Amino acid sequence: MTAAAGIVGWGTAVPDARVTNADLEARLDTSDAWIVERTGIRERRIAGPNESTATLATEAATQAIKRAGLIPADIDLMIIATVTPEQPIPHTGAFVGETLGLQCGSFDMNAACAGFVYELVVGASMLGMGYEHVLLVGAETLSRIIDPEDRTTTVLFGDGAGAAVLAPMRETPGVLAWDLGCDGSAAGLLEVPAGGSRRPASAATVAGREHYLKMAGQEVFRRAVRAVVDSAALTLERAGVEASDVAWFVPHQANARIIEAAANRLGFEPERTLVNIDRFGNTSSASIPLALFEAVDDGRVRAGDLVLCSGFGAGMTWASALLRWGAR
Ligand code: UT7
Repeated sequence: MTAAAGIVGWGTAVPDARVTNADLEARLDTSDAWIVERTGIRERRIAGPNESTATLATEAATQAIKRAGLIPADIDLMIIATVTPEQPIPHTGAFVGETLGLQCGSFDMNAACAGFVYELVVGASMLGMGYEHVLLVGAETLSRIIDPEDRTTTVLFGDGAGAAVLAPMRETPGVLAWDLGCDGSAAGLLEVPAGGSRRPASAATVAGREHYLKMAGQEVFRRAVRAVVDSAALTLERAGVEASDVAWFVPHQANARIIEAAANRLGFEPERTLVNIDRFGNTSSASIPLALFEAVDDGRVRAGDLVLCSGFGAGMTWASALLRWGAR
């Protein structure tokens, strides 16, 4: 199971504003020590009044198109993974496409924190349908759906975006294997209860703070480790590759302890595991591209490296993909 698709351009965007643990200590019943020990997070970026999911997505996408040596008109399809769309209707891609000057097909995808890996697999399959350049964006402003009075979620999440241009590979397949899944029995563990068709927004839902993200943290933690380990192991098995052959493990950045537990069980040492949760917190669908492209930019990830991305999130979704970096 392979796909002749490779990442030929990439970009990232985060808001300038940093919120440190000390900033949170000043307004919530929490402490830097608790946050660092339980999550590994030291600061996160939070969107300002003029920023939104679409502005961050556009900035990351612009970089990715440029780095691919393309112009926006070369993009045939754009997919935006997000749980924090610009607004309910129309989709975020409409706003990003308008700013970039695109009129190609676009759609949003909600696979929560597994979103970037999901769109990578979908985008790769669309290249097989004849598209030449598929633009993928994972973009979030989670700060807009977090209850500022809820210390159990406020400390965890941040805002950001990552984008990639996928193109057909000439020589070797870039996406070697993947695994996508979702266990809907866990849907209630991580949710925004109101604002959809089941429970439309009303004065009562707002007063009940039901438009904010709710999470059963401990249970999500337990399932997350299992989902990442099982999905990543299955992906390696499908590719016929051992963990020791993989240069970089790129897990979703939800909690440093989840990353450590999953990496440990899969056989990835800290030296081969990309972690930037300390500086960005959990940015959902932006977290894997933010971690991967930072390591590409600073030269850690090199052409020919095998890279294993694995994410999990609300749903409960999970997704893994094994890539060979840059071997076009
Ligand atoms: O990307 C989407 C997927 N999301 C995740 O993967 C998140 C998964 N879950 C987690 O990362 C962890 O469960 C949390 C970081 C959310 C919580 O860590 P924990 O070690 O599971 O803590 P806990 O929920 O068991 O809470 C332990 C204590 C509680 O107090 P009591 O009942 O023992 O007195 C909490 O009320 O810590 C308390 N607590 C806090 N204390 C200080 C919870 N949040 C905070 C806080 N500051 N921010």
